[in-house]
Amino acid sequence: MNSFVTSRGYRAWLPAERWTDRRRIEAWLPLLSSITAGITLHADGPGATSLRELTDGIAALTGLAPSLTLKAGAPLILLGSAEAAQQAEEEWKTLSLPEEGFLIRFGRSEAEPWAALKGGSDTGLLYAVFAFLRLLGTTPGGPPGDLRLEESPRSRLRMIDQWDNMDGSVERGYSGDSIFYRDNRVLLESPRTADYARLLASVGINAICINNVNVHHEETKLVTPALLPDVARLAKRFGRFGIRLFLSVNYAAPIELSQLDTADPLDERVQAWWKRTAEDLYTAIPDFGGFVVKADSENRPGPFTYGRDHADGANLLADALAPHGGLVLWRCFVYDCHQDWRDRSTDRARAAYDHFRPLDGRFRSNVVLQIKNGPMDFQTREPVSPLFGAMPLTNQMMEFQIAQEYTGQQRDVCFLVPQWKQTLDFDTQLNGPGSTVQKIAAGKVYPWAHSGVAAVSNIGSDGNWTGHHLAQANLFGFGRLAWNPQLTADAIAAEWSVLTFGTEGKAAAFVEELLLESWPVYESYTAPLGVGWMVQPHYHYAVDVDGYEYSKWGTYHFADRSGIGVDRTQATGTGYTGQYAPVNRDRYESLEDCPDELLLFFHHVPYTHLLKSGKTVIQHIYDSRFEGAARVEDWIRRWRELEHEVDPERFASMLERFEQQLENARQWRDVVNTYFYRKSGIPDERGRTVYA
Ligand code: GCU
Repeated sequence: MNSFVTSRGYRAWLPAERWTDRRRIEAWLPLLSSITAGITLHADGPGATSLRELTDGIAALTGLAPSLTLKAGAPLILLGSAEAAQQAEEEWKTLSLPEEGFLIRFGRSEAEPWAALKGGSDTGLLYAVFAFLRLLGTTPGGPPGDLRLEESPRSRLRMIDQWDNMDGSVERGYSGDSIFYRDNRVLLESPRTADYARLLASVGINAICINNVNVHHEETKLVTPALLPDVARLAKRFGRFGIRLFLSVNYAAPIELSQLDTADPLDERVQAWWKRTAEDLYTAIPDFGGFVVKADSENRPGPFTYGRDHADGANLLADALAPHGGLVLWRCFVYDCHQDWRDRSTDRARAAYDHFRPLDGRFRSNVVLQIKNGPMDFQTREPVSPLFGAMPLTNQMMEFQIAQEYTGQQRDVCFLVPQWKQTLDFDTQLNGPGSTVQKIAAGKVYPWAHSGVAAVSNIGSDGNWTGHHLAQANLFGFGRLAWNPQLTADAIAAEWSVLTFGTEGKAAAFVEELLLESWPVYESYTAPLGVGWMVQPHYHYAVDVDGYEYSKWGTYHFADRSGIGVDRTQATGTGYTGQYAPVNRDRYESLEDCPDELLLFFHHVPYTHLLKSGKTVIQHIYDSRFEGAARVEDWIRRWRELEHEVDPERFASMLERFEQQLENARQWRDVVNTYFYRKSGIPDERGRTVYA
């Protein structure tokens, strides 16, 4: 057996370990010992997967091997008392569910428990099975007496983006190598891609892009007949779990592959080239999802080279994919990465809106603009991108980053669900009050044909997938939120902690609490009040306050001896605030109304400026750096107390990460505090150690 399979954490939140409590097993026994299933028994389909996952999950937790009866019919699984469950089946004959939706019922008939799971399709049934397994894992006693759970996903596209390269590396990967590629080959012999598909489907993910948005030479060939058979085999693996496969493509592929001397979107030869490529793709993979494209962004090729705009560029690919039902997910991370730091009028935060907003209405109906959650780049704290929802005539989806590039790189704990929740709950006001990001992403504000959420994955070849065991919670949490953005961060943290650390003992409760405070803690010892960056260039983990200050990347904090922050107001700054709907614009524009946590994103203020919290900016900087590092110390103390509550492997691995985090937090604390003391000359009013 491969060593990673035995690694603690490999099964992540899925059923892994036999319950030790006999009474719990006995309470579930009558329900779990017999299964009747009506599924489409296509070996490559999610119907067959549903049944396998259910029986495997039951076996893992209880050791039971249920008796199985198969029958033709609707996507349906009945457990326990046969007659009662059949009654549910009878009642549900006319029930119609959304395709990916499901209904689960628990009941009792003369004290005999039964449960019935119905899907709107085989994929819906698969989601029902995973929901059933979650219930099994989080319910300490026996089966619920009477329960009805009807769910369907809010967003149509619930997608994961791999930033994997074919040489086996992962861009911004913090948990080993790629599980998809090695030495410029597709890793087909590894079971990990199928195991990964299972993890993703278990939280409702239905699309995956399997290569980095920066498409280098080898990856350009993924769309060619040489590599398509390999891609098709991966597509099949994911298809069994209801997940459609996408590829990132190189905009200049016809040139890169030496087949044409141009990639001009209006050139007929280029159009014919992409049409042929799409035909090859769909011959190999009939349910292929489409393309993800990073064009004219961070030195990647794109339509600008030919004097064309992004609509011309995206439509070229959209027209090639349209006859096959494919989508173009066109990224909006477009900005000037050769900026002159001396020029204070150019503002990177404005770029996506300035580039794309004027193009509203020009994109084909199978183009979806993929927009990062913030206007800069996955910082610990940013306002919501003003472009999201600002193009009523253009499909959009939001892009998050599960990989903790700027948020601790899976060495420091940073549970990002609360951050994503704030974004999803943000009311853009763009189509009147209530135009929240989550409603827009769910396609409920504008009549878009496609919309949803995507996120950059955080997994790699490490035995526990994510490096830090607790980083799994972000992958889990993203999927749960994509499915239902109304879930609370607390509920998601609680669910993941119990599924992963069990219902017995104190570990799950501690982990839940720690997860929920981890983002504020990370924020409190790193860059203050929304200003961002201050990280070591390129690596983005350790502190370097001026690392990006005199660079070409447009990422400045403008700290001087009297103050800090970026003036993005319309009155005196870059005018960025004007990209929001009036209510939000006015709030951010006003020094009084701007929320503290985003103050330095929008305003340049003196160190003596008084925050709403009643502290000055400089005192806030000192206090929160000290508090942040102290919290991490406290976590270590509390984790040590749990030594006998968790298995030795996880205990030791997490302890090691917490200790690294503490070292990082102390370094940030001391460097940031010293930097601002030296700039401002204002001492900490509490007289703690700041290095002069
Ligand atoms: C960030 C990240 C890059 C990535 C880019 C993107 O800038 O550091 O590695 O390629 O985002 O999203 O395209």
